[in-house]
Amino acid sequence: MKTIFVIGGDGFIGWPTVLNLSAAGFNIVMIDSLARRFADIELECESLTPICYIGKRIDKWQQLTGQKIKYLNINVAENYDKLLKSIQQYKPDAIIHLAEQRAAPYSMKSSWHKRYTVNNNVNATNNILCAIVESGVDSHLIHLGTTGYYGYSDVGMKIPEGYLPVKVNVDGVEKEIEIMYPPNPGSIYHMTKCQDAITFLYFNKNDKIKITDLHQGIVWGTQTKETKLAEELINRFDYDGDYGTVLNRFLMQSQVNHPLTVYGSGGQTRAFIHIQNSVECIRLAVTNPPSRDRVRIFNQTTECLNIDSLAKKIGKITGAEIRYYRNPRNEDLKNKLNFSNEGLLNLGLKPITLNNGLMEEVMTVTKKYKDRCIFDKIICTSKWNKDKEIDYKGLCK
Ligand SMILES: NC(=O)c1ccc[n+]([C@@H]2O[C@H](COP(=O)([O-])OP(=O)(O)OC[C@H]3O[C@@H](n4cnc5c(N)ncnc54)[C@H](O)[C@@H]3O)[C@@H](O)[C@H]2O)c1
Repeated sequence: MKTIFVIGGDGFIGWPTVLNLSAAGFNIVMIDSLARRFADIELECESLTPICYIGKRIDKWQQLTGQKIKYLNINVAENYDKLLKSIQQYKPDAIIHLAEQRAAPYSMKSSWHKRYTVNNNVNATNNILCAIVESGVDSHLIHLGTTGYYGYSDVGMKIPEGYLPVKVNVDGVEKEIEIMYPPNPGSIYHMTKCQDAITFLYFNKNDKIKITDLHQGIVWGTQTKETKLAEELINRFDYDGDYGTVLNRFLMQSQVNHPLTVYGSGGQTRAFIHIQNSVECIRLAVTNPPSRDRVRIFNQTTECLNIDSLAKKIGKITGAEIRYYRNPRNEDLKNKLNFSNEGLLNLGLKPITLNNGLMEEVMTVTKKYKDRCIFDKIICTSKWNKDKEIDYKGLCK
């Protein structure tokens, strides 16, 4: 039986990934430092869904399926020795690396949050790769990156999967070469993902490590086939101004009678993927390892949606008011976006796109737990620049 490490396995994508791979018969070692649960305490805002302690989650899964999951509490950015020993002991065939501080607004809260995000994310990636090399174990590393790597300016073309063909002039002769797509981060968080990409390039070139970097869009939805099986397995749902992500936030806001919070004009376009598809893509990457020739990069996204249209669509279905707030980010007022996602489609991904049934499912879950919502945590309080004015009460168009 193949052994898979899921590092960051207690998180929003990690937990359903753990269950999905366990259901598929893999031997799962789940590693997590509980950093995300500590951030809940720091921010004084918990997941809207009442997630259970890890022990209870694992026990329930074993009771339902007979499948065991091993949990190790390791901070992979800080405890290199423990990480190395775990790889030497379990010899994982694949390591899924989700263990990063993943919220752009959180990464912009203060100098401390900027430094924490860089230290945590860059060291986690470097430590995992160093440990793979030192252990001598031939593990395939699968990392969750972001479509934000490419930036959100209008490039007017379909963004390729990580590599860009360019024409150069060599002694008067035009030649076509391929380069890594130029990174264009829009926050400290996104900057760490761009730094990861260079780390992957080096370890693949120098040590021939098999690496897949999944440039993922914004994940929406909450439950997957496996997390739905019991209340104890429920996935986390972030709705706050730091960790909540746009589509899930709109759906939740419509259920707690809060105006839908559009930051800026709503002219922004972003890439999206449903949580069920996200875990399926990770499984496709696990079961189809890449060659060692270069880092394999897939755009893990199923559609691009405009924020204003999204708010209007949800407003129309639910009757929720839409409110336009000053944008705390430094970004273009509007942009268009189009991604190639051939890699995962060729491996068999069946895209789930925005549909009323799945939106209703999120609304049902959020309505069920709406009494757990803390209203003053909904608005984003981070600012990309100190002197940026934010009207927290909202600014109606
Ligand atoms: N959620 C999204 O919309 C989205 C979109 C694109 C990419 N991603 C990427 O996917 C990955 C997972 O995202 P998520 O939404 O599940 O985030 P999450 O915060 O819910 O989960 C991350 C998990 O990693 C753990 N962790 C963080 N640092 C750690 C460390 N040093 N050692 C051990 N564990 C650590 C946290 O405790 C948490 O459980 C992240 O790398 C994120 O950047 C997420």
